[in-house]
Amino acid sequence: MASGAFRVGTAVSFIAVFVAIYYRNFSNDVLKVRLNSVLQGLVEVERQHSVRTKAKVAIGYGACQDLFVDGKDLLMYDVAAMYPEHFSDISTTEELLKTYAYFFRHGAAAERYVSNGSLFDTLVANAEKMNSAHYGLGGNAPVMASRFHLEGCEVLLAAKMTDELQKTLPKGVRVVGGDVQKDDIHLILEYKADEEWGSYTSPRANRFIIHNDQNNPFVSSLEAFGEELKKFNPSLLVVSGLQMMDMYPFAPGEREKRLAKIRDQMIDQSQKTRIHFEMASFVEEELLKQLADGIIPYADSLGMNEQELANLYNTVLYGNISLVADSNPRVAIVLDQMRQIFRLLTDRNKHIDNSRQLTRLHVHTLAYQAILTVRQSPWRNSKAAAAKASLTANRHVCGSTEVDIDNAMLIMDESFSTSITAGSPRVPLDINEPISCWEESLENGPEVEICVAPVLVCLRAHQTAGGGDNISSAGLSLQI
Ligand SMILES: *[C@@H]1O[C@H](CO)[C@@H](O)[C@H](O)[C@H]1NC(C)=O
Ligand SMILES: *[C@@H]1O[C@H](CO)[C@@H](O)[C@H](O)[C@H]1NC(C)=O
Ligand SMILES: *[C@@H]1O[C@H](CO)[C@@H](O)[C@H](O)[C@H]1NC(C)=O
Ligand SMILES: *[C@@H]1O[C@H](CO)[C@@H](O)[C@H](O)[C@H]1NC(C)=O
Repeated sequence: MASGAFRVGTAVSFIAVFVAIYYRNFSNDVLKVRLNSVLQGLVEVERQHSVRTKAKVAIGYGACQDLFVDGKDLLMYDVAAMYPEHFSDISTTEELLKTYAYFFRHGAAAERYVSNGSLFDTLVANAEKMNSAHYGLGGNAPVMASRFHLEGCEVLLAAKMTDELQKTLPKGVRVVGGDVQKDDIHLILEYKADEEWGSYTSPRANRFIIHNDQNNPFVSSLEAFGEELKKFNPSLLVVSGLQMMDMYPFAPGEREKRLAKIRDQMIDQSQKTRIHFEMASFVEEELLKQLADGIIPYADSLGMNEQELANLYNTVLYGNISLVADSNPRVAIVLDQMRQIFRLLTDRNKHIDNSRQLTRLHVHTLAYQAILTVRQSPWRNSKAAAAKASLTANRHVCGSTEVDIDNAMLIMDESFSTSITAGSPRVPLDINEPISCWEESLENGPEVEICVAPVLVCLRAHQTAGGGDNISSAGLSLQI
């Protein structure tokens, strides 16, 4: 009995192993076919439209040098990290370790001001010694400017930077703002998916950014940029980089004055110039409120990731901010937040002088791209924009212009609901036509078009920082 059972058991397990191997091979092939089909579908739609010739784009504000380093090389896990805690401004090594742990375990992107200058300088000096360290041109505005330039647009960038840094910009990007003695440095601590750091494992690849900016918080290129803008007359003005004002120890009222000047610059633009505001990881509730009241109403379009969406949503709805949100939220949840944000902002804007009508929202997540535009608004090619944004996400993070399906996966579900409201339609992910677009009328609001495109998520992340900027600009470049 015993030996018979043993033999049957062995045979069963042999078969099981064989089936498992066979199935794995088979499912691998099926997977490849699926990924390839999604890739072809995205590329085909991306190619249907091109960037308008001589489209002019002006981008503010700021620039810095990014110093990339593997987080685990620079930060030694120690007992402080066992008790994750969030500090809005970092002044000691303990606070740094706790804050890093806080975001790392959620795989959430974050950016923090280090108020202790000597601590920051030491960190930079140590980072420079690491094998994983390398410098690159940083700041939201220069990354976006480079992307628009690569896509064929005529570009004007507002930034103060050293000549050396300016040389790293692609030729043809025009910079206004003036010189500085020393560029601000942003130290970018990167980590991979499933990376271990002490007792934590990161759920996804991401980065934690620290800086000790001296120039950027003042948006000092603003005035010179304003003069040039009059002559340049762009189709699109992008406002970005305002998170550099976060946590900076301004004199009382100083930040408000700078924000008012940015608002005036937005109001001064002709109605023919569309205005896009790119969100970022904001920490200070007060700043986010000031932006919601003083900057966002003057934009036609907003771009953000899932963390920033949750943050804006909480600010506008409840007046509080959320520091970390689900790093891989379901499509239905993101679309519902987009609809609600859209309605709330539209209603608020009606009561604000010189405000614009919000007509576009782009949310980029790891798994998919979602673009909402008002029907009859000037934004064109939403479907192609979603495709381009999605492809840019892979190309950027993998660091290659060709998408390699052996190094990619889909994390978006096989189908998604368009809303969490019961009875909402389910949309299957059709691998032959992977981008889903539909029209709907928002409750008490306008007719909108929504497009959702899956992302072929890069498995071996080369770089995540700046991804959002590349993605947002790639999408915008097809819509102006
Ligand atoms: C599975 O694929 C590998 C490599 O592609 C091959 O060597 C192996 O024979 C395959 N196994 C089965 C059970 O098909
Ligand atoms: C700043 O950091 C240094 C370590 O680099 C530390 O010795 C010093 O106490 C810190 N200063 C403050 C005010 O926390
Ligand atoms: C913000 O306030 C709302 C309503 O009071 C609450 O449900 C939510 O949990 C709060 N969020 C945070 C991050 O504190
Ligand atoms: C944006 O994309 C370009 C081209 O793929 C890439 O060279 C650059 O590194 C990306 N941005 C950042 C911040 O790295």
